[in-house]
Amino acid sequence: MKTVIICVAMLFAQLSIFAQSNTNPLPRIIDKNGRHQLLVDGKPFLILGGQAHNSSAWPGMMPNVWAAIKQMHANTLEVPIYWEQVEAQQGKFNFSIVDTLLAQARARKVRLVLLWFATWKNGSNHYMPQWMKLEAGKYPNILNRDGKPIDSPSPHIEATLNADINAFTKLMGYLKKADPQHTVIMVQVENEPGSWDTVRDYSPLAQKLFEGQVPPELLKPELLKAMNVNVVTNGTWQKVFGDRADEYFQAWSIARFIGKVAAAGKTVYPLPLYVNAALRDPLTNPKASSYESGGPTDNVIPIWKAAAPAIDLLAPDIYLSGSEKVLKVLDLYDRPDNTLFVPEAGFNKENAKYMYDVIARGGIGFSPFGIDRNAEDPESTENKDRYVPYATSYALFKTMMPELAQWGFEGKIKAVVEHEDQADQTVDLGQWKVTVTFGSGRGGTTKNTTPNGKAMIVKLSENKFVLIGTNCHIAFAPSGNQADKAWQYLKVEEGKYQNGVFKPLRILNGDETDWKGPNFGDLPTVLQCTVITR
Ligand code: DGJ
Repeated sequence: MKTVIICVAMLFAQLSIFAQSNTNPLPRIIDKNGRHQLLVDGKPFLILGGQAHNSSAWPGMMPNVWAAIKQMHANTLEVPIYWEQVEAQQGKFNFSIVDTLLAQARARKVRLVLLWFATWKNGSNHYMPQWMKLEAGKYPNILNRDGKPIDSPSPHIEATLNADINAFTKLMGYLKKADPQHTVIMVQVENEPGSWDTVRDYSPLAQKLFEGQVPPELLKPELLKAMNVNVVTNGTWQKVFGDRADEYFQAWSIARFIGKVAAAGKTVYPLPLYVNAALRDPLTNPKASSYESGGPTDNVIPIWKAAAPAIDLLAPDIYLSGSEKVLKVLDLYDRPDNTLFVPEAGFNKENAKYMYDVIARGGIGFSPFGIDRNAEDPESTENKDRYVPYATSYALFKTMMPELAQWGFEGKIKAVVEHEDQADQTVDLGQWKVTVTFGSGRGGTTKNTTPNGKAMIVKLSENKFVLIGTNCHIAFAPSGNQADKAWQYLKVEEGKYQNGVFKPLRILNGDETDWKGPNFGDLPTVLQCTVITR
């Protein structure tokens, strides 16, 4: 009898290990045909996120952050972990804030992306613990061309690197133990690294390295071609990279440092890791003196990839405005070797539309920054107003998240966002083309007050589509080899996805489809539409 009980207990133990490892695999990013997908608990996941303000990750501040997450219907909170807080005394770690965040997130069924505010925060060392700040000689900042100190840490210092590696690996080790259910799905390593006010470090140590040879990792022919320079097999920074040498040296040095921190953390606990970028103008190839030099700006993505292979993706923080610039940025960071993720965007109504483009590209998520703004009054009208386009989209997307993520991954979605000129836009779908007209009223006769229209068109099969949008009309017309044929809607249904199945609420017809196609108002809706030629 005793043996039977022991055997049954062992069997259960084995089954539960099996069940755990099968039902709860680590979050990871997969790639196929140059597209990407984030898997959480083994299933396609979209980060419908919100990022807390820089100084909000303290227990007393969290109620306002959670109120904002709730109001937005977000499924993920991005929240900083401060080095100065968790290692206030050298070598003594206190991760109670991690416990607090994990418990509070789990209670709300929200996932976390942790932001490791450490050696770099917006190019500065401000989140280093005091014991480091007080030893400026041991953990130095960089110097500009005139030898003047700059408010930015040196990427060339072993002591700083080792201290960061030590703290980051402790954090990842702690997470591994404290978070078997993977509430934390990704970690951002540092925050907007780079240097303002100088293109690179001109300290004697850095100067010596700069005058040395370019490392072999950067001399690969495909990398040099991608950087638009001559293919060579050796040379100094200046010789190989000419007038961009200073910036590229800074990028390599910072990326190498962060790559080592990331690799060490990943060895302990291999969560997806990323680095966020303070962007440069994506259209004019400006000089590095006009932006944060050395961070993962679009022009140095190949350097970052070569220097920091443990970093899964480089992510643009969107504070630029204007659809031409923003869409260009999304294009530049959506690459076969880089998963698109927008970890920060200015928290305004206009930016919400870009989420549509990110999802269509197979991007893994979007998150406005500073969601707990006006924390003392989260119910203020201004706040509510700003939440609306995110809240309405997130609430809808949550009902069909695996489908959206999968369609994006498979390249089945085309997105359209309204530009400043508010002009119609046409999308080619093969046998059909759609024209998206922005505005309200019959056929979009009344322009939107701001260019906030957006649409996603999902091609389920040659004649069947899912349409999601706001503030626009979507009109079909035959195209390709059936361009001259007459056509009509066979059926247009409005409904919702429930557990992967489209559940119609009603058939749309008459006024709702006759005036430049099915129309979408302020609230995003989902239509399933079949078109035929005749
Ligand atoms: C970008 C940074 O990454 C954020 O931490 C924050 O400082 C915002 N800029 C601006 O408030």
